[in-house]
Amino acid sequence: MNCKSFIIVFLFQNIGLVLSSPQYESIFNFGDSLSDTGNFLLSGALAFPVIGQLPYGETFFQRATGRCSDGRLIIDFLAEAFSLPYVPPYLAVKQDRGQSSQHGVNFAFAGATALDAEFFFERNISILWTNNSLNVQLNWFRKLKSDICSDEDCDFFKKSLFLVGEIGGNDYNYAFFLGGGIKQLRSMVPFVVGAIINATSALIEEGAVELMVPGNFPIGCSAVYLTLFESSNKEDYDRHGCLKAFNAFARYHNSQLKQALDLLRQTYPHARIIYADYYGAAMRFVHAPLHHGFYGGTLKACCGGGGPYNFNNSARCGHAGSEACQNPSIYSNWDGIHLTEAAYRHVALALINGSSSAPPLISSPH
Ligand SMILES: *[C@@H]1O[C@H](CO)[C@@H](O)[C@H](O)[C@H]1NC(C)=O
Ligand SMILES: *[C@@H]1O[C@H](CO)[C@@H](O)[C@H](O)[C@H]1NC(C)=O
Ligand SMILES: *[C@@H]1O[C@H](CO)[C@@H](O)[C@H](O)[C@H]1NC(C)=O
Ligand SMILES: *[C@@H]1O[C@H](CO)[C@@H](O)[C@H](O)[C@H]1NC(C)=O
Ligand SMILES: *[C@@H]1O[C@H](CO)[C@@H](O)[C@H](O)[C@H]1NC(C)=O
Repeated sequence: MNCKSFIIVFLFQNIGLVLSSPQYESIFNFGDSLSDTGNFLLSGALAFPVIGQLPYGETFFQRATGRCSDGRLIIDFLAEAFSLPYVPPYLAVKQDRGQSSQHGVNFAFAGATALDAEFFFERNISILWTNNSLNVQLNWFRKLKSDICSDEDCDFFKKSLFLVGEIGGNDYNYAFFLGGGIKQLRSMVPFVVGAIINATSALIEEGAVELMVPGNFPIGCSAVYLTLFESSNKEDYDRHGCLKAFNAFARYHNSQLKQALDLLRQTYPHARIIYADYYGAAMRFVHAPLHHGFYGGTLKACCGGGGPYNFNNSARCGHAGSEACQNPSIYSNWDGIHLTEAAYRHVALALINGSSSAPPLISSPH
């Protein structure tokens, strides 16, 4: 077992937590726009070119980096906490020999699904931003592995954190946005969870021992869902103004995922498989927005083109007719779909302080 002790040394307002001794020497990440640090942009971002322009990136980087936020993402705050460089996008590592894979690589791709593109094409869902599903990302990883591992069982993976997601949110988004019903989509959940579990076990077979698998966010509180599925029936909303049925759907996915992770822990007792409760972390600031500094509220997007939740499909963030708020740090929702840097910081803190990671991401001192 891991007997190293980690002492939280100081808390910077802008940096978050920095740990006294780094628990991990590298991070390998798989996922979608919640953790893409540049792959989609490097590929040309044809489905969403505004990601290459301000206001995306305005807060911390002061330029668009391909991150779907005003600033840093959860993975950036985790890298900071472990005193590691920001995890470079795979396409940058592949294209430019200057980007090192020494401290890990990020395979996440905005718009990516857990299931392969064929699954959607067979069901006439043809609005995918990308075909770079979890399996495609896994194959990129396998290709790179031979370059970064000299020894057969790749010792350096033992000190690496593998993040498998968040992924799967888009599988549902695409289907919901094309009119799929909640009952119909519940039948998709075992497939999506199966894809996440398959990828997680494949990584363990490749030598990963420390893995974190996040669940879905409370989609019923996101401006895009609140706008597209607005209801005149007050009963459809909880007391915070979120759509109950969509949050129940996210919880259903999460409970299936957690059950499947329990089985995986039995199959691979030597691996440490952490569940990251993104849902619970986000609900903490939905329940207590002011306590977390979200004076602008948590349901309305900072950047958008009007409407009750400031999400307008004809004037989405970055497009003509849209505008970003003055101070993104008082909003949790950035562009209707993605969260602000301020919100991602709180999620990262909740993973690090253990309130939203089980077992806790940071091993407690022994
Ligand atoms: C998909 O669309 C094609 C052509 O419109 C149609 O023939 C087919 O039945 C549809 N398949 C499904 C699963 O809806
Ligand atoms: C995904 O694959 C399909 C079928 O091979 C192709 O037609 C489509 O252009 C691809 N989409 C993207 C975004 O690459
Ligand atoms: C997961 O792996 C199993 C066994 O290889 C396979 O039968 C199944 O189709 C896979 N599921 C998904 C969703 O990829
Ligand atoms: C949404 O954007 C369109 C295009 O800019 C604009 O005409 C419309 O008034 C906006 N809707 C709302 C509710 O602000
Ligand atoms: C952990 O951090 C989150 C996010 O800032 C916060 O809401 C929560 O209260 C913290 N929990 C503990 C036990 O410190």
